[in-house]
Amino acid sequence: MDNQPRVVVAGVEDSRDAWAALDWAAAEAAGRQRPLRLVHVLNVSAHRVREAPQEELPGLQEAWRQRGQRLLEQATRKVAERHPTVPVMSAIMIAPSVAAALLAEAGDAELIVVGARGSGGFPELLLGSVGGHLATHANRPVVVVRRQGTVSRGVVVGVDAGRTCASTLAFAFEEAALRGTGLTAIHAWDDIRLMPGGAELSLPHGGAGQARQARQLLAAALDEGGKTFPDVPVSGIVHRGGAAYALTSASKGAELVVVGSRGRGGFTGLLLGSVSRTVLHQAACTVAVVRNSA
Ligand SMILES: Nc1ncnc2c1ncn2[C@@H]1O[C@H](COP(=O)(O)OP(=O)(O)OP(=O)(O)O)[C@@H](O)[C@H]1O
Ligand SMILES: [Mg+2]
Repeated sequence: MDNQPRVVVAGVEDSRDAWAALDWAAAEAAGRQRPLRLVHVLNVSAHRVREAPQEELPGLQEAWRQRGQRLLEQATRKVAERHPTVPVMSAIMIAPSVAAALLAEAGDAELIVVGARGSGGFPELLLGSVGGHLATHANRPVVVVRRQGTVSRGVVVGVDAGRTCASTLAFAFEEAALRGTGLTAIHAWDDIRLMPGGAELSLPHGGAGQARQARQLLAAALDEGGKTFPDVPVSGIVHRGGAAYALTSASKGAELVVVGSRGRGGFTGLLLGSVSRTVLHQAACTVAVVRNSA
């Protein structure tokens, strides 16, 4: 059994969200008393490298490597100033995919932290490709850090039915406890059924029974989850309607929204459910996606 402490991994690059992700990851490493591993990836399939004449490649890669090294040194100093007790390691990787390289580096990580956006892509996108790929493929929690205009407090968690939500809830309780803040658990249900052909059918008398069931489900999940963290103040919200809407609305007053990678529904084989995907794109705050098996 390997008794090395598990690390918090952060994807480092020179963009505003990536610096915010570094701050988040450093505070998290301090709170969890874990070492922090900073990873910068030289993306060799980036346009500039692909287009460069063959003979210029070695020089170009060396210049990039040196720039990456300086970036990591700057990031390491920043962490040391704010969190002097956190052990920091860093690595530069040369790879054709940033997300794949981060995944490879984070095989044994406690969690992986990246910014919602990086330095590339179209300005109007709300999520870059790295966060999307990691949330889809990582087998450990992925935190996508989004900078917020206002200071908000509290952790929100989306609770689905059954066993699938246990790891999500455990992570959410842990985060609320680490931050000394409250947890709002949201379970959404709705009595609309899609009929073959796409017509909607609202069950006439199903509502009251389903609402009661939803409340029971949420209470049972919170009872179970709360056993380990009895000091975390918890409130439960049962929402009649869409889960993605309820969670993104709640994200406006929260510092973190936690969702599972899969819910109960959807197609088997999907790695990231539609609620989690929407929340990842649309939440007003930082989002954690916790891998669960549907
Ligand atoms: N080269 C890199 N090395 C390490 N981490 C990176 C690198 N590029 C991005 N990241 C991490 O991923 C986060 C999101 O960046 P991402 O590249 O997904 O968005 P983008 O640049 O806006 O769009 P695109 O997907 O088009 O590149 C960054 O904030 C950073 O944490
Ligand atoms: Mg990018």
